[in-house]
Amino acid sequence: MADWIPVAAASECPPGTSIERVAGDRIVAIANVDGRFHALDGLCPHQGGPLGTGALCGTLLTCPWHGWQFDVTTGRHRISATVRQVLHEIREQDGQLFVRFGDPGAGA
Ligand code: FES
Repeated sequence: MADWIPVAAASECPPGTSIERVAGDRIVAIANVDGRFHALDGLCPHQGGPLGTGALCGTLLTCPWHGWQFDVTTGRHRISATVRQVLHEIREQDGQLFVRFGDPGAGA
């Protein structure tokens, strides 16, 4: 089982914003929707844009490079049902955010 990796202080990602952080050898986009945190793979599947630096509107995160939009609660692309961004587990403890990679390639 992969370990929880500290990625940021919760205060770095206020409600309605997203941030980009490195966790292990991965880039993670973290979004705060009304005080609830969500984590997804930080590299946009279109051309590798930095999703975490995009604009968050509600649950939709917009890639800053070409505007692809993802629902941070499901990972689904707004338009194409076949495109889905990988979600990661995220939790807050004592003001610190931790992520955990649950996929088989995470090196359990
Ligand atoms: S790289 Fe994200 S929309 Fe193109």
